[in-house]
Amino acid sequence: MEKTFRTESPDETQALGEKLGNRLKPGDVIALIGDLGTGKTCLTQGIARGIGIAPNEVVSSPSYIIINEYNGKIPIYHIDLYRLETAAEISELGLGEYIESDGICIIEWAERMEDGLPENCITINISWEDEKTRSIKIQHTLS
Ligand SMILES: Nc1ncnc2c1ncn2[C@@H]1O[C@H](COP(=O)(O)OP(=O)(O)OP(=O)(O)O)[C@@H](O)[C@H]1O
Ligand SMILES: [Mg+2]
Repeated sequence: MEKTFRTESPDETQALGEKLGNRLKPGDVIALIGDLGTGKTCLTQGIARGIGIAPNEVVSSPSYIIINEYNGKIPIYHIDLYRLETAAEISELGLGEYIESDGICIIEWAERMEDGLPENCITINISWEDEKTRSIKIQHTLS
Protein backbone atom coordinates (compact mmCIF):
# COMPACT_ATOMS: atom_id res chain seq x y z
CA MET A 1 0.00 0.00 0.00
CA GLU A 2 1.28 3.46 -0.81
CA LYS A 3 -0.58 6.74 -0.76
CA THR A 4 0.45 10.38 -0.80
CA PHE A 5 -1.50 13.15 0.92
CA ARG A 6 -1.06 16.89 0.88
CA THR A 7 -1.82 18.96 3.98
CA GLU A 8 -2.12 22.75 4.14
CA SER A 9 -1.87 23.31 7.92
CA PRO A 10 -0.70 21.65 11.15
CA ASP A 11 -4.38 20.88 11.92
CA GLU A 12 -4.74 19.00 8.65
CA THR A 13 -1.58 17.03 9.39
CA GLN A 14 -2.91 16.14 12.84
CA ALA A 15 -6.26 15.11 11.35
CA LEU A 16 -4.47 12.79 8.91
CA GLY A 17 -2.44 11.37 11.82
CA GLU A 18 -5.63 10.81 13.80
CA LYS A 19 -7.20 8.77 10.99
CA LEU A 20 -4.08 6.65 10.79
CA GLY A 21 -3.91 6.31 14.59
CA ASN A 22 -7.49 5.00 14.60
CA ARG A 23 -6.47 2.13 12.37
CA LEU A 24 -3.30 1.06 14.16
CA LYS A 25 -2.97 -2.22 15.95
CA PRO A 26 -0.78 -3.31 18.89
CA GLY A 27 2.75 -3.98 17.68
CA ASP A 28 2.66 -1.57 14.74
CA VAL A 29 5.83 0.40 13.98
CA ILE A 30 5.77 3.77 12.24
CA ALA A 31 8.98 5.14 10.74
CA LEU A 32 8.86 8.91 10.22
CA ILE A 33 11.30 10.40 7.75
CA GLY A 34 11.55 14.08 6.90
CA ASP A 35 13.77 17.12 7.37
CA LEU A 36 13.82 19.33 10.47
CA GLY A 37 10.53 21.05 11.07
CA THR A 38 8.55 19.25 8.39
CA GLY A 39 5.93 17.99 10.88
CA LYS A 40 6.97 14.61 12.28
CA THR A 41 6.02 15.58 15.83
CA CYS A 42 2.84 17.28 14.61
CA LEU A 43 1.79 14.10 12.81
CA THR A 44 2.69 12.05 15.91
CA GLN A 45 0.36 14.24 17.97
CA GLY A 46 -2.48 13.33 15.59
CA ILE A 47 -1.60 9.64 15.62
CA ALA A 48 -1.56 9.70 19.43
CA ARG A 49 -5.00 11.31 19.46
CA GLY A 50 -6.26 8.52 17.21
CA ILE A 51 -4.98 6.00 19.75
CA GLY A 52 -6.59 7.88 22.62
CA ILE A 53 -3.81 10.13 23.95
CA ALA A 54 -4.27 13.90 24.23
CA PRO A 55 -2.07 15.61 21.59
CA ASN A 56 -0.65 17.97 24.22
CA GLU A 57 0.92 14.99 26.00
CA VAL A 58 3.12 14.43 22.97
CA VAL A 59 6.34 16.34 23.26
CA SER A 60 9.26 17.11 21.01
CA SER A 61 12.14 15.42 22.73
CA PRO A 62 14.27 17.57 25.02
CA SER A 63 17.98 17.15 24.52
CA TYR A 64 18.69 13.92 26.36
CA ILE A 65 15.36 12.08 26.24
CA ILE A 66 15.12 9.73 23.33
CA ILE A 67 12.04 7.72 24.23
CA ASN A 68 8.79 9.06 25.60
CA GLU A 69 6.07 6.65 26.60
CA TYR A 70 2.37 7.53 26.56
CA ASN A 71 -0.12 5.16 28.08
CA GLY A 72 -3.52 4.99 26.47
CA LYS A 73 -5.45 1.88 25.52
CA ILE A 74 -2.27 0.84 23.70
CA PRO A 75 1.11 2.08 25.00
CA ILE A 76 2.88 4.38 22.55
CA TYR A 77 6.68 4.60 22.41
CA HIS A 78 7.63 7.89 20.76
CA ILE A 79 11.27 7.66 19.80
CA ASP A 80 13.38 10.51 18.42
CA LEU A 81 16.76 9.57 16.98
CA TYR A 82 17.77 13.09 15.93
CA ARG A 83 20.53 13.40 18.51
CA LEU A 84 22.12 10.05 17.80
CA GLU A 85 24.89 10.12 15.28
CA THR A 86 26.02 6.58 14.71
CA ALA A 87 24.43 3.20 14.11
CA ALA A 88 26.43 1.94 17.12
CA GLU A 89 24.87 4.53 19.45
CA ILE A 90 21.44 3.56 18.20
CA SER A 91 21.98 -0.16 18.57
CA GLU A 92 23.14 0.43 22.18
CA LEU A 93 19.70 1.79 23.00
CA GLY A 94 18.19 -1.67 22.64
CA LEU A 95 15.19 -0.42 20.72
CA GLY A 96 14.39 -3.97 19.63
CA GLU A 97 12.56 -4.47 22.90
CA TYR A 98 10.15 -1.66 22.04
CA ILE A 99 9.85 -2.59 18.38
CA GLU A 100 8.94 -6.17 19.21
CA SER A 101 6.51 -5.17 21.97
CA ASP A 102 2.74 -4.98 21.72
CA GLY A 103 2.87 -1.22 22.00
CA ILE A 104 2.97 1.13 19.03
CA CYS A 105 6.37 2.63 18.13
CA ILE A 106 6.55 5.96 16.35
CA ILE A 107 10.13 6.76 15.37
CA GLU A 108 11.31 10.21 14.23
CA TRP A 109 14.49 10.21 12.10
CA ALA A 110 13.91 6.49 11.56
CA GLU A 111 16.33 6.39 8.61
CA ARG A 112 19.12 6.57 11.22
CA MET A 113 18.25 3.04 12.36
CA GLU A 114 19.34 1.62 9.04
CA ASP A 115 18.66 -2.09 9.38
CA GLY A 116 16.97 -1.90 12.78
CA LEU A 117 13.46 -1.42 11.40
CA PRO A 118 11.18 -4.42 11.13
CA GLU A 119 10.06 -5.77 7.78
CA ASN A 120 6.48 -5.01 8.64
CA CYS A 121 6.60 -1.26 9.05
CA ILE A 122 4.58 1.80 8.10
CA THR A 123 7.01 4.29 6.58
CA ILE A 124 5.94 7.92 6.30
CA ASN A 125 7.98 10.43 4.32
CA ILE A 126 7.11 14.06 4.98
CA SER A 127 8.39 16.77 2.71
CA TRP A 128 8.15 20.53 2.80
CA GLU A 129 6.43 22.07 -0.22
CA ASP A 130 5.96 25.58 1.11
CA GLU A 131 5.48 27.36 4.45
CA LYS A 132 2.12 25.63 5.11
CA THR A 133 2.08 22.75 2.68
CA ARG A 134 3.46 19.28 3.29
CA SER A 135 3.47 16.21 1.13
CA ILE A 136 3.01 13.07 3.25
CA LYS A 137 3.66 9.69 1.66
CA ILE A 138 2.49 6.66 3.63
CA GLN A 139 3.81 3.22 2.66
CA HIS A 140 3.06 -0.05 4.34
CA THR A 141 5.43 -2.87 3.67
CA LEU A 142 3.90 -6.38 3.68
CA SER A 143 0.34 -5.28 2.99
N1 LIG B 1 0.93 21.36 6.86
C1 LIG B 1 1.67 21.35 7.99
N2 LIG B 1 1.82 20.21 8.68
C2 LIG B 1 2.59 20.15 9.78
N3 LIG B 1 3.28 21.20 10.29
C3 LIG B 1 3.17 22.37 9.63
C4 LIG B 1 2.36 22.49 8.46
N4 LIG B 1 2.44 23.79 8.03
C5 LIG B 1 3.24 24.41 8.89
N5 LIG B 1 3.70 23.60 9.86
C6 LIG B 1 4.63 23.96 10.92
O1 LIG B 1 5.80 23.16 10.76
C7 LIG B 1 6.36 22.85 12.04
C8 LIG B 1 6.45 21.34 12.23
O2 LIG B 1 7.13 21.12 13.44
P1 LIG B 1 7.38 19.67 14.06
O3 LIG B 1 8.02 19.89 15.37
O4 LIG B 1 6.15 18.84 13.98
O5 LIG B 1 8.46 19.11 12.99
P2 LIG B 1 9.43 17.87 13.15
O6 LIG B 1 9.50 17.25 11.79
O7 LIG B 1 9.01 17.02 14.29
O8 LIG B 1 10.82 18.58 13.49
P3 LIG B 1 12.15 17.99 14.19
O9 LIG B 1 12.94 17.37 13.07
O10 LIG B 1 12.82 19.19 14.77
O11 LIG B 1 11.73 16.98 15.22
C9 LIG B 1 5.45 23.50 13.08
O12 LIG B 1 5.99 24.75 13.42
C10 LIG B 1 4.12 23.67 12.32
O13 LIG B 1 3.36 24.76 12.80
MG1 LIG C 1 10.03 16.34 16.00
